Amino acid sequence: MSNIRIAPSILSADFARLGEEVRAIDAAGADYIHVDVMDGHFVPNMTIGPAVVKALRPHSTKPFDVHLMIAPVDPYLEAFAEAGADILSVHPESGPHLHRTVQTIKALGRKAGVVLNPATSLDVLDYVIEHLDLILVMSVNPGFGGQSFITSQLRKIEAIRARIDETGRDIDLEVDGGVDRDTCQLAIDAGANVLVAGTATFRGGPDKYAENIAALRGA
Ligand code: DX5
Ligand code: ZN
Repeated sequence: MSNIRIAPSILSADFARLGEEVRAIDAAGADYIHVDVMDGHFVPNMTIGPAVVKALRPHSTKPFDVHLMIAPVDPYLEAFAEAGADILSVHPESGPHLHRTVQTIKALGRKAGVVLNPATSLDVLDYVIEHLDLILVMSVNPGFGGQSFITSQLRKIEAIRARIDETGRDIDLEVDGGVDRDTCQLAIDAGANVLVAGTATFRGGPDKYAENIAALRGA
């Protein structure tokens, strides 16, 4: 049995039918529901806010993995926690005090993640790793689905896997961007255990979701 978890990104879903889409990926075997929150400022695209997360929450029992691409991020943490986020992941560039932001997420009773852009060094993890539940490596520059996997991130994933193993803690190592049936194996071999997939999940429509998710899991 594979211990790889699949987190479909609803950025590639049909936004006119989001509730149905979330139910469909839940039924198709999604482990997490990955929600991309973009503000048109930190990243060059705009998506959804806490009201939509709250509206989607009853449509799945799976953990909501909320990827916050907004700056400043701190003023919105409570709203996303109350809307039903289980994991809140933040970019270190989205506020001046990463340690404080992580503490705030934990104080809200949610799991805390840190997200590294392709050009962000893993050194930023040095003094927060012991508080983290998840580390997300961006294998594209954030903002849009459908981009190509940046292979230089594989050695970052390997290095972070070693760091996680040193802590002896159970920290998810998630990869996001350009994950498809070919690149998923590269990410898994480098040490990732959670794969975000937008295009590769939703390709072909609802009849294909289960097959798409199973293929990424390496079933
Ligand atoms: C990009 C988002 C990703 C995106 C992935 O900024 O964080 O989650 O939806 O899309 P694909 O899987 O199509 O690269
Ligand atoms: Zn994402």
